[in-house]
Formats: sequence, C-alpha cells, structure tokens
Amino acid sequence: MRKKVSIVGAGNVGATAAHWIASKELADVVLVDVVEGVPQGKALDLLEAMPIEKRDVQVTGTNDYAATANSDVVVITAGIARKPGMSRDDLLNTNFKIMSDVVSKVVAQSPESILIVVSNPLDAMAQTAFKQAGFNRERVIGMAGVLDSARFRAFIAEELKVSVENVTAFVLGGHGDTMVPLPRYSTVAGIPITELIKPERLEQLVQRTRDGGAEIVKYLKTGSAYYAPSAATVEMVEAILKDKKKILPCAAYLEGEYGISGYYIGVPCKLGAAGLEQIIEIKLTPEEDAALKKSAAAVKELCAVIGV
Ligand code: LAC
Repeated sequence: MRKKVSIVGAGNVGATAAHWIASKELADVVLVDVVEGVPQGKALDLLEAMPIEKRDVQVTGTNDYAATANSDVVVITAGIARKPGMSRDDLLNTNFKIMSDVVSKVVAQSPESILIVVSNPLDAMAQTAFKQAGFNRERVIGMAGVLDSARFRAFIAEELKVSVENVTAFVLGGHGDTMVPLPRYSTVAGIPITELIKPERLEQLVQRTRDGGAEIVKYLKTGSAYYAPSAATVEMVEAILKDKKKILPCAAYLEGEYGISGYYIGVPCKLGAAGLEQIIEIKLTPEEDAALKKSAAAVKELCAVIGV
C-alpha cells in the first residue's frame, strides 16, 4: 500500500509541496483547506498531470478532515503569510488560533501520524502543535533549517561558482531574525567555506540568508516564498517515508540538548521512519552558543505571548 501524506493548507506552500511529493511519487496526497473548491481544484489539476509525469499517486482535495484519516505524515502549512513590512512574529496570534484548531482535527483522524509544521512564526507554531497534539517530540517537527540552509547554500554556490551539490551548510536557531548560520560547519566539497570566502563577504551572505524570507516577500508583495519552503518540507517528508536517517537542520523540542529545555529551536536532527530519531549535538564556539541561546530566548518570548 502506498504511503499517505496529508497537507493542511492549499495555498502556495501546501499546493507546491503536493506537487513535489507527487512528482517524486512519494505518497498519495490529500490536500485539505477551509476554502471551498481550492483544494479540490488544485488536487484535480495535479492528478491530471500524473499521466504526463508517469507517476502513480492519488491526489485528493477536500474541506473535510475525514479524508486525511490514517495519514503517515501530515504537513501543516495553514495560516496567514507575511506581507511586505511584516515580520514572521506579526502572524503570531492569528496563526496560533488556526494551528490549535487544525492540529486537534488532524490528530483526531491520524493519531499515529508524524506532524511537520511549516506555518510561521515557525518555532512557536511547532510548540503550539506539540502541546495541542499531545504526541511525543519524535512526531512533531518544524521545518525551517532546511530552507534557511538551502538559501545559504544557493548563495555560497553562486558566489564560488560551484555546483549546489558540493555545498553543505548548517543554519540553526529559530526561523527569524535571530537564526544562526554556522559558516564553520558549512563546506564546499568538504572544505570549510571560511577558507574560501573572505570574512566580510561571508558576513554579507550570512545576512542575506537571515533576510532570505523578507527578500522574497518584498518582491512578491502579496505573500511569501513557496518553492524553496515546500521543497525543504518535502526533503523532510522523504527522509521520514524512506527511513533515510538523514541529518537535516529542523526545529525540535529540546530537553536539555544545547543547554535548552522546553522549547522548539533549529538543531541538527536525524529523520527516519520514527520521525525525529536523534538530535545531534555539535560543538559550538562561545559566540555560536550565545547566538543560539539568544535565538531560543526570542522563541520563548513568543511562546509566552500565546501561553504554550
Ligand atoms: C520564508 C518564510 C516562509 O522564510 O518563513 O520564506
């Protein structure tokens, strides 16, 4: 039997995630949204592309959570997106209400599923989903580090005129202005980028990474990025469905790792069939550690506002 992935939110991120999942033939997809017609229309359109793409997957659109029953993975993208001038944190109260409602409906239908949270502000929304679901931390994971790292990788590849495949990068911390790109752990074919790019230039690439989401919002004006966010989400989905034991930066609920307890923050995670199978603790310099703690404090502040 094929795996089943439900995606809550048939907006740009949700629909494009459905597209990547179907085009990789990873699972049957159920697209669910409160707006009538949109999930049905997008799902049918995608289904009709499958003969051309030579992919055998079912794609369904619905307003009814019953269709999401017994999903292996549920991706939650529901919520409002940023407009120019807004920070991710400005979405907090509205998306908290949406997230709480969505998670209770998802969990009722798929009590064994693994949740991947994509809505912003990411870390606080992952915390909301975790508290609302009552799942263990292995089964509630936030997407952000893969996206932020992909942006950093794209900028590094462009700078050094090398294949993106040669570039690995790690961006930890919260998905916001306090995110923590780690140049020391970012490499080109195994060579640390600190040996290849001058410090001032590297700092510019780091800053562009931090502002990566806002750069796109500024261009689009009516919404935020979706190709890279959905591709990042689907890399996580694939690692879980195929039990790849892949190490990816994800938002995870920390219980003492990195000296942080009780909050979601981006750290290196091993993803496999059980979801979050391990948090990898890497050695940080005092500066990097301080940046991660600062990022965690920012997440804590947001969580206090919504009481999670
Ligand atoms: C971004 C939004 C989706 O980083 O958080 O593009």
